[in-house]
Amino acid sequence: MRLTILGGGGFRVPLVYRALLADRGKGRVTHVTLYDLDASRIATIGRVLAEQAEGVADAPEVHVTTDLDEALTGADFVFSAIRVGGLEGRAVDERIALEEGVLGQETVGAGGIVYGLRTLPVTDHIARRVAALAPDAWVINFTNPAGTVTEAMSRHLGDRVIGICDSPVGLGRRVASALGVDPAAVWLDYAGLNHLGWLRAVRVEGRDLLPGLLQDEDALTSFEEGKLFGAEWLRTIGAIPNEYLHYYYFNREAVTAARAARQTRGALLIDQQRRFYTETTGSALGLWETTRLERETTYMAENREAVGAGERESCDLESGGYEQVALALMRAIALDERTTLILNVRNRGSLGALDGDAVVEVPCLVDANGARPVAVDPLPDHAQGLVSSVKAVERAVIEAATTGSRQAAVRALAVHPLVDSVKLAGRLLERYEQELPQLGYLRGRN
Ligand code: G6P
Ligand code: MN
Repeated sequence: MRLTILGGGGFRVPLVYRALLADRGKGRVTHVTLYDLDASRIATIGRVLAEQAEGVADAPEVHVTTDLDEALTGADFVFSAIRVGGLEGRAVDERIALEEGVLGQETVGAGGIVYGLRTLPVTDHIARRVAALAPDAWVINFTNPAGTVTEAMSRHLGDRVIGICDSPVGLGRRVASALGVDPAAVWLDYAGLNHLGWLRAVRVEGRDLLPGLLQDEDALTSFEEGKLFGAEWLRTIGAIPNEYLHYYYFNREAVTAARAARQTRGALLIDQQRRFYTETTGSALGLWETTRLERETTYMAENREAVGAGERESCDLESGGYEQVALALMRAIALDERTTLILNVRNRGSLGALDGDAVVEVPCLVDANGARPVAVDPLPDHAQGLVSSVKAVERAVIEAATTGSRQAAVRALAVHPLVDSVKLAGRLLERYEQELPQLGYLRGRN
């Protein structure tokens, strides 16, 4: 099995490689190709992977390239995990929105929109090259904003592109542990869009354990989402939202806390990762581990601080979500071992409120034929409203990126529930265009 990782110099690549090394089963990945524009970043990651592979018999062979066509040719699976504009771009996305008094975040609100505008021309090119050079490959999309990017890529690749995210898995794992049940034995009734989903039921042997959990104050506030949202709010909506919903339900607090912080998340990560990517001596793996732990410890720190949620649980510092979903997805497809995973795929009637081509995040059956969404119960009214609004935003982003329409870009910003003025939308776009060269394609357009 040949796996190509686009964004091969990315910080999370060693997580994927570690999962591949641990996979001893048949049909395992034997060749990994790392593709990245930045040769020095892949070199650093290459050193980490080499250390990880030390002493492991039959470790997947690693090949490195800065040529996209070469990377795609012969691939069975393509992981797309790129960050157009790098962390520097992310820091701009976050800072400008916060300066204007609205949420500045990687994937939510104005920041996510502008990140999408920057990313889609690149992922569109990738999708076309995959269609031309590796039409039978499966594309696993981690590239954020993952829902928007997956939907845009699906216009070229149909169901051959599947979007993934670790946040529903993390939520499922935490809820299962609060209930004292095996995460593998539960049916998670989770639905929505990427970073905008709700867990409405947790079924074990035909019984829904969520109503009981909602009444158990101690168990409910023992994990991240319970601490962030508070037991009372979870009981009020009768569901457990994805942690990213904190930016909506507690928007004022999140914005205030982020504005008060010394630097944005993107800027903090630049500082955290600088030494890792520039150090050429000593153990690259050791430095990667310490840097990774620092990153996990500070994840959503301001949100937690804003509502007095305290420190992150130590089990959440051990990652496992991101690479495990990717590996489980690849194995199910490659070995035709049918399983259920929460993935981003075309809706096909799964969520009644959205059309068939809208990419949604729902439980899917996965096997050699790819991922098929299962039909899910309708979302509660307010959630459905939010999902419809954000899908309209995502589509305006796709329209702007594919046609170059500046009006569509302003519309995306203006109709987002977390951007409160049309005038502000226009000003945000102007300011982003001044600092982000990748938005040049919109300049001077209608
Ligand atoms: C989670 C989300 C990703 C997101 C990441 C941000 O893993 O699922 O989509 O990119 O968090 O984490 P960071 O450490 O970069 O702020
Ligand atoms: Mn995600």
